[in-house]
Amino acid sequence: MTLPKVYVTRRIQDTGLSLLPGRADFEVWEKVGPVDREILLEKASGADGLLCTLSDRIDEELLSRSPNLKVVSNYAVGYDNIDVDAATRRGILITNTPDVLTNATADIAFTLVLAAARRVVEANEFLRSGEWITWHPDLLLGQDVSGSVMGIVGMGKIGHAVAKRARGFSMDILFYNRSPRPEAEKEFGAQQVSLEELLKQSDFVSLHCPLSGETKGLIGERELRMMKKTAILINTSRGPVVDQKALFRACSEKWIWGAGLDVFDREPVPLDEPLLSLKNVTTLPHLGSATVKAREGMARKAAENLLAGLEGKRPTDLVNPQSFQG
Ligand code: DGY
Repeated sequence: MTLPKVYVTRRIQDTGLSLLPGRADFEVWEKVGPVDREILLEKASGADGLLCTLSDRIDEELLSRSPNLKVVSNYAVGYDNIDVDAATRRGILITNTPDVLTNATADIAFTLVLAAARRVVEANEFLRSGEWITWHPDLLLGQDVSGSVMGIVGMGKIGHAVAKRARGFSMDILFYNRSPRPEAEKEFGAQQVSLEELLKQSDFVSLHCPLSGETKGLIGERELRMMKKTAILINTSRGPVVDQKALFRACSEKWIWGAGLDVFDREPVPLDEPLLSLKNVTTLPHLGSATVKAREGMARKAAENLLAGLEGKRPTDLVNPQSFQG
């Protein structure tokens, strides 16, 4: 029996890779950095399946040069790196890895809430650089988290998990979502409002929407100017949801109090990015799902989805069901 040919663009955890022998003829890109575009195009051109990450651009060019491709399994919940419409036109299945990273990502959003509000990174640097010469009533004052207002943009699974954490801090919850979410209103007493209302009333605005044509630049100068001067913007979704230049002005000119960012327009973020020069901006290198358990779950799901698609079964996490011919 000939096994389907699979290209895996990063060495993922064994919980996933160990499922492939005997079911796929696979090759793994072993370097730490992303696979070079030319190599990806060449490998994809002969593959039945791809197991890829958010660093890989799966676009029209790649799809049109990959005549045998049946499944693209993304090792991420977000799939803005993939042209889903182009894949669907060709009947190629696209899958992602939801659920297993929900808690890890909500935890990192809350890490940023606390770190940005209480100036944790700035305080750590202050201490280590020898600037701590006395206790003082005004030393490194932050913003209260407990009892404040959390505004959640995108009440999907991760938004919901953030709301749960916010309730643990006795926060009132506002949310903005395309469709109604009666369960969030019931469970958290959360209130669904317009984006404008959310921006005006929240002490923390946490972004949990996927990146799409609709959400690109969702938070720009106009929106940042609506926020309270004491408010903090948290982004753990995708960098382009926020206009980074406008955010720099908002934080440096103090239209808002600060920001906590796990994601950027360009990743890795160039070191000359102006936001990195600001003390009121706390930054992380896209670590939302970076726990052992979440990544093991993602690897397992990505491999299971890939194999299901290649074996003619409906993958559990199918993004484009129109492509599935059962
Ligand atoms: C995702 O899954 O979309 C995260 O951003 C990366 O783990």
